[in-house]
Amino acid sequence: MGRLEGKNVFITGASAGIGEATAREFAKEGSNLILTARRLERLQGLKQELEKQYPSITVTAVELDVRRKSQIDSVVASVPPVDVLVNNAGMVLGVDHLVDVDEDEFDQMIQTNVKGLVFLTKAVLPSMKERQTGHIINLGSIAGKQAYAGGSIYCATKYAVEAITASLRHELVDTPIRVSGICPGLVNTEFSTVRFRGDKDKADNVYTGMQPLVAQDIAELIVFTAGRPPHVNIADMLVFPTAQADAKTVARH
Ligand SMILES: NC(=O)c1ccc[n+]([C@@H]2O[C@H](COP(=O)([O-])OP(=O)(O)OC[C@H]3O[C@@H](n4cnc5c(N)ncnc54)[C@H](OP(=O)(O)O)[C@@H]3O)[C@@H](O)[C@H]2O)c1
Repeated sequence: MGRLEGKNVFITGASAGIGEATAREFAKEGSNLILTARRLERLQGLKQELEKQYPSITVTAVELDVRRKSQIDSVVASVPPVDVLVNNAGMVLGVDHLVDVDEDEFDQMIQTNVKGLVFLTKAVLPSMKERQTGHIINLGSIAGKQAYAGGSIYCATKYAVEAITASLRHELVDTPIRVSGICPGLVNTEFSTVRFRGDKDKADNVYTGMQPLVAQDIAELIVFTAGRPPHVNIADMLVFPTAQADAKTVARH
């Protein structure tokens, strides 16, 4: 029996990109899935597909907007105890310099990337502590380690994720609960399309002349992280495409 077989894995933002790919990778390992996002129909399609392919696992699909704390609390109360929480839901809006940042977009990024992650973590931790088991895997970013022009608020949210991940690791050091941060560079998902507010050409341009990571590359590392023996905690993983060296240095041909 594999280490992840029968574990209950809760993924936020499982309707697309890294979250969706992570669901597929955990399903291969025989984990039960709690898939959450705002686009319920996508989650239901994924549930059907995975339950058909892996009849031994249970997949729960639940609509959840991580900006809504009351929804977080009621969803967590309604699902089985969580063994692995993947705090993946996240987004960026725009490349505006700080002077032009829209207040509503500022709030959306903070509420999704920071408050959502915090409230989800608060909701699952008491049960993890009671059961003396659990793993919290947070999606950070190179943007949480190196700021760049046009990224002030997104970078601030990912710096916050970095700090929260480290603080939690300190707070839980005397428990068996593990806390990990996975920090990708450029990954070709819907992320850039959201950033450029639906402008596909601008989004595609981010990856011109270089080979970005794909969602599955990161999903495999998330599942690898979760699958280590209980005494091993991958604290922090920074992952670039080969053609990227830091937040702004990308080789294009
Ligand atoms: N792509 C990259 O280059 C990159 C690099 C570094 C880090 N990351 C991080 O990786 C994570 C996943 O990003 P991705 O690349 O997979 O982007 P994506 O393809 O745009 O997927 C984002 C996911 O987050 C969900 N989401 C957004 N707002 C939400 C909300 N309010 N409530 C619940 N779910 C919400 C979306 O689902 P719904 O719209 O259905 O709610 C979607 O499933 C993010 O935290 C991102 O910051 C991405």
